[in-house]
Amino acid sequence: MNTQIIKIDQQNIDKEAIKEASRWIQKKELVAFPTETVYGLGADGLDPEASAKIYAAKGRPSDNPLILHISDIEQLTPLVREIPNAAVKAMRAFWPGPMTMILNKSDIVPFETTGGLSTVAVRMPNHPIALALISESGCPIAAPSANASGRPSPTRAEHVYEDMNGKIPCILDGGMVGIGIESTIIDFSGDTPMILRPGFITKERLEEVIGEPVGIDPAVLNMKKMDGIAPKAPGMKYRHYAPKAKMILVSGREQSVISYINEKTEEAHRDHKKVGVIGTDETIPMYKADVVLSIGTSSSDRTIAHFLYDVLRTFDHEEVDMIYSQVFESGEHGFAIMNRLMKAAGYDRVEV
Ligand code: TXA
Ligand code: MG
Repeated sequence: MNTQIIKIDQQNIDKEAIKEASRWIQKKELVAFPTETVYGLGADGLDPEASAKIYAAKGRPSDNPLILHISDIEQLTPLVREIPNAAVKAMRAFWPGPMTMILNKSDIVPFETTGGLSTVAVRMPNHPIALALISESGCPIAAPSANASGRPSPTRAEHVYEDMNGKIPCILDGGMVGIGIESTIIDFSGDTPMILRPGFITKERLEEVIGEPVGIDPAVLNMKKMDGIAPKAPGMKYRHYAPKAKMILVSGREQSVISYINEKTEEAHRDHKKVGVIGTDETIPMYKADVVLSIGTSSSDRTIAHFLYDVLRTFDHEEVDMIYSQVFESGEHGFAIMNRLMKAAGYDRVEV
């Protein structure tokens, strides 16, 4: 299959381009498109055959449900059984935006989209290209992140092309996304709202808006190799975000971390191995590895979230044998960033 890339300026959206992409959606085909978090791989979310194509293109296990993307709050009602008060408050505050709500699904949502679950994930993205595509297509668009299963999520159209070339007919290229990590997933189907995947919107902000305590799925808090706790979001149990090289996180006092990584680099060089390091604008001059990349500035966790997946993918191109990374726990997005980094490292972390 020939994969067409259509460049769109999000400040000045070409309506013809959106129409062309929406025709693929209407023909039950796949279109990758930018959202404010990461690129999504979209298809008609109410059509079982279209959803099946998403699983095939990503190589994604079929028990891992998809998020339905809508462009208007009105589109939510037919998809769900009820909308609890807390969910109404959250969507008024955070939509369009990086928040996904889990609610009990209605009969029109096929089990093929929800991985067999009786709940459905819904989100209204805050990106003009995504909103235009959904609205022109005339259906909710089911979209996981547009990476091949297990790979880092795509934050640029080039990343999508790497993973999806030849597998999908169309990529809408709207440039690099703004946020860089996926939406916060919050489950409103039980008694207490529960975060199933940390994201850009924090527990504290949710609690402020909802006015009641919000829980966190225990499997998400578990920062070790899965100790048999099954996460409620099926996708959280899979190896994810991983670069090709083995990755190890190193935490401790900054100076000790740098010395440790430099020692490990020397050891690796004796074995003729190529080493990559993830540091910050402030620390990268101090490393001796072959490929030293800055993930952003330590004074802004927003920059770190923004460049996280881009940096992981760059190491694949550089063909390093191993990657050492500092940890980035501080700031309001530290929790979400570490959730992704720990998975990328297969929970391999040393304290020095
Ligand atoms: O920011 C985002 O959310 C991006 C953009 C494209 O919108 N999408 C995204 O989708 O990250 P995906 O498929 O890569 O991750 C969706 C996660 C998976 O872990 C999946 O298991 C979980 O949401 N999920 C979806 N429906 C669910 C449900 N009904 N119950 C529990 N977890 C669900
Ligand atoms: Mg994903």
